[in-house]
Amino acid sequence: MYRIYSKIVGAKVVFAREKKFKVSISEILKKVTRKTKIVFLANPNNPTGTYLNKFELVQLRRKLRKNILLVVDDAYAEYMRNSDYKSGLDLFKNKQNVFILRTFSKIYGLASLRIGWGYGQKKIIDALNIIKPPFNVNEVAQKAALESLKDIKFISCSIKHNIIYATKLKKFLDKYNINSNEVSANFLLLDFAKCKFKAKYFYKKLKTKGIILRSTEDGYKIKNMLRLTIGSKTDCLKFIRVVESIFNK
Ligand SMILES: Cc1ncc(COP(=O)(O)O)c(C=O)c1O
Repeated sequence: MYRIYSKIVGAKVVFAREKKFKVSISEILKKVTRKTKIVFLANPNNPTGTYLNKFELVQLRRKLRKNILLVVDDAYAEYMRNSDYKSGLDLFKNKQNVFILRTFSKIYGLASLRIGWGYGQKKIIDALNIIKPPFNVNEVAQKAALESLKDIKFISCSIKHNIIYATKLKKFLDKYNINSNEVSANFLLLDFAKCKFKAKYFYKKLKTKGIILRSTEDGYKIKNMLRLTIGSKTDCLKFIRVVESIFNK
């Protein structure tokens, strides 16, 4: 969406290459010119699940010109329990030239309500308010979002559930030579390079059983991989059963 919204306002969008599916600071710096105004970064990234650790993220900010705004999308921050990770908000709360994005679409489970929030210096918020449509977030969404923040038990259960099942599914899929990234956010990027089945075949087989993974070919242009989101316990156990049946045929 960053690409689309930027194009709508006439910006030139430039992409930086990743290295082994991870954002590369040197590749970003290679693309920066005197015209660069904003650098967008999702950390951890979707669909790769890779992330810049806290040192790398600080290093990126240091290496960018001061008048370039660094936008850090913290969409999956709540799930992260990796010791070398720190959210954009935790790292840059007092920085003038970083803007942080947060969402209620992920751990709070309110994606269809279309509500999120941003954190940054007042000058930027004031500028956003000038162009913001007056009724862009409805009241039901605002009330639900506030209530969801109070539900601390649900959030801590979701974090635990995610780590347990992401780790379990990663190990389970490794047995079939479907490899994935280190557990980070609430999804795994499955690599079929060493698997006896191609991602496309696996996708189709799962779909016949009512399980839909995210194809990474369309949109992300990543071949022979699929993104698996960690669902409920029932979903995960069904996934395991169905995968066993596909491989044990
Ligand atoms: C990195 C990242 N940011 C933001 C979002 C979605 O945010 P929202 O639903 O608040 O627009 C997603 C969801 O797919 C995402 O992967």
